[in-house]
Amino acid sequence: MTDQPHPAQPSSHRDQPAPALFTWEFATDPYPAYAWLREHAPVHRTRLPSGVEAWLVTRYADARQALADQRLSKNPAHHDEPAHAKGKTGIPGERKAELMTHLLNIDPPDHTRLRRLVSKAFTPRRVAEFAPRVRELTDHLIDQFARRGSADLIHEFAFPLPIYAICDLLGVPREDQDDFRDWAGMMIRHGGGPRGGVARSVKKMRGYLAELIHKKREALPAEPAPGEDLISGLIRASDHGEHLTENEAAAMAFILLFAGFETTVNLIGNGTYALLTHPDQRRRLEESLARRETELLATGVEELLRFDGPVELATWRFATEPLTIGGQRIAPGDPVLVVLAAADRDPERFADPDVLDLTRRDNQHLGYGHGIHYCLGAPLARLEGQTALSTLLTRLPDLRLAADPAELRWRGGLIMRGLRTLPVEFTPSA
Ligand code: HEM
Repeated sequence: MTDQPHPAQPSSHRDQPAPALFTWEFATDPYPAYAWLREHAPVHRTRLPSGVEAWLVTRYADARQALADQRLSKNPAHHDEPAHAKGKTGIPGERKAELMTHLLNIDPPDHTRLRRLVSKAFTPRRVAEFAPRVRELTDHLIDQFARRGSADLIHEFAFPLPIYAICDLLGVPREDQDDFRDWAGMMIRHGGGPRGGVARSVKKMRGYLAELIHKKREALPAEPAPGEDLISGLIRASDHGEHLTENEAAAMAFILLFAGFETTVNLIGNGTYALLTHPDQRRRLEESLARRETELLATGVEELLRFDGPVELATWRFATEPLTIGGQRIAPGDPVLVVLAAADRDPERFADPDVLDLTRRDNQHLGYGHGIHYCLGAPLARLEGQTALSTLLTRLPDLRLAADPAELRWRGGLIMRGLRTLPVEFTPSA
């Protein structure tokens, strides 16, 4: 982190009005506002809809450094809010819940220990072995609407795919997975429902996971069987003789569900939308899939993440000591939000950043974060994203939007960016 002001940062930016953030227009297209911030106020203090004041970091170089800066803690205890405001800010982890002691809310050395333990269970190999199941799930979901000629791809495809996939991977029995679908739907407010429904869903999910972990622990065979589920792997994982406690295992299962669910919904939703609105790019991808090549699919999904990624802002960080980001002094206790979506469109880092180019190779985007909290589920997200997009394009070749893009509604959450619905049409097929 440099102590020198960024040379391109004008000192007079305070004279210019900052664009309105967190409005309906902003949720629909935040990129013009991010371009303004990158240019005029790259480290910008703002009041969030919850009332909390936080710094937004929007330039790629600053964002990348901030994500890896150990002086920025993930532990909400470092947040310098008056005590009476704590727990009312909407900052995850300020709510009193055992489930909140998870990877995204802790620092080394606890983070190092827990991440090492979960990495022993959640291996790239386990994810690779899971590929046939993801293909089967994808086909099964498309079968449900293929004869109809129309669908809402968020509710009928992007939403159920990751929840069933993670449930399967964790080892939640199939007969219980629809409960998870309902709880998760309530949690991201797809399902609407009564007031307090979200809190009740979290409680039910937690109760269910605690019981499942307990049952699996009782029945755990001495040696792992091939294809063992992830919860059993978590129970088995140990580090210098130290096991995860049942509480830690439950918090870990919960964060895998939580971190891996809405993100993947939005990767599939935003990615499909981008392809449907960029016909030349879509055609190139279809031609490459027809030749059974996988290279463009791989670079393409990375580019879709950069271009309109599921995670708009990285999760919270709090300064533990005075520091300078992009020439701006940050005081201890100040919350810092790294705006991944803004950094990934920085023209200082990416050529023609507002152009979707599925062949882009120099693409070290920040969509999965950076540093010690880099997304643990990236191999699974890539598998799901690549399978979902390639199967959709191959099975429904004349897939098209059934709504004017201007009418589509984006969810204006703080951390995530995604569509509420994605209505499509296509020629019915068996
Ligand atoms: C962390 C993005 C899918 C599990 C992160 C972070 C980002 C991210 C940006 C870092 C947040 C920060 O530094 O504040 C994404 C995107 C996904 C995705 C864009 C889909 C396209 C998944 C999946 C899983 C998962 C499928 C697991 C099933 C996690 C976990 C962390 C994490 C456990 C915390 C890691 C740590 O703190 O050490 N993800 N994620 N993610 N992600 Fe993902």
